Amino acid sequence: MELSFKDKVVVITGAAGGFGSVTARAFADAGAHVVVSDINTAGAEKLAAELPSAIAVTTDVTEEDAVRDLIATAESAFGGLDVMVNNAGVPHRSSALVDLDVETVDQQLAVNVRSVFLGCKHAVPALRRRGRGVIVNIASIAAKRPRPGLTIYNATKGAVITMTRGLATEVAPDVRVNAVNPVISETGFVKSLTGADALPDELRTNWVSGIPMARTATPQDVANSVLFLASDQAGFLTGVCLDVDGGRSIQ
Ligand SMILES: NC(=O)c1ccc[n+]([C@@H]2O[C@H](COP(=O)([O-])OP(=O)(O)OC[C@H]3O[C@@H](n4cnc5c(N)ncnc54)[C@H](O)[C@@H]3O)[C@@H](O)[C@H]2O)c1
Repeated sequence: MELSFKDKVVVITGAAGGFGSVTARAFADAGAHVVVSDINTAGAEKLAAELPSAIAVTTDVTEEDAVRDLIATAESAFGGLDVMVNNAGVPHRSSALVDLDVETVDQQLAVNVRSVFLGCKHAVPALRRRGRGVIVNIASIAAKRPRPGLTIYNATKGAVITMTRGLATEVAPDVRVNAVNPVISETGFVKSLTGADALPDELRTNWVSGIPMARTATPQDVANSVLFLASDQAGFLTGVCLDVDGGRSIQ
């Protein structure tokens, strides 16, 4: 089953980073025009220059004006919007909830929840101007199987899952809204979480021990699932929050 996004217009937030950049390449390989959006301008521009039909847009997903401009730029550059991937998100440094400060919690809510609200709010009218479209949100398996130390991050991803399922009922049948729930993957996320450049061996061993498929997720695992949920082959799927977790959530 080959997924085609020929001439489709796809916006991906956080696209200079791990999951976002591999997802952007996968959409480009499948024929899409890609809007590479990130707060990291240099990273977004570098990736966009490597893709056959892409532009880079600097976006802070916590800012409504920036997200509105992102969608408008996609429409003016490529004539419309077909797929919106709300991928940008960050963990807080591993910490007990009782030790977190309010500023950290507000930032988590802004980057991980307000961002998805804004991405959905401004994408839906643009998708409808095309007649139909798809939103894919990046949540986390940690919303369903939380570990200690990431409680507020996990709660933000729980909000993304609930937003996905609720919005799916509001905007069907012309717009589908799905999510993916990845398990840990060794992207820039790990540095944000631990402060270390790579996942410490002890932590990897501990995490992998709870994953029946005996490895962490790769960005390609996530990209494959995003493309499937966005594709015509998934045309009857909405409100689906797909566990891309190697079986982590089974037990
Ligand atoms: N890597 C994991 O283990 C994992 C697991 C489950 C879910 N996720 C989720 O996957 C998504 C992508 O994470 P990743 O692993 O690729 O991390 P990453 O750190 O490699 O990439 C995140 C990207 O988001 C961008 N970003 C951060 N704040 C932003 C803002 N305010 N506006 C716009 N862009 C911003 C960063 O510049 C970066 O390019 C996130 O939502 C994350 O919560 C990651």
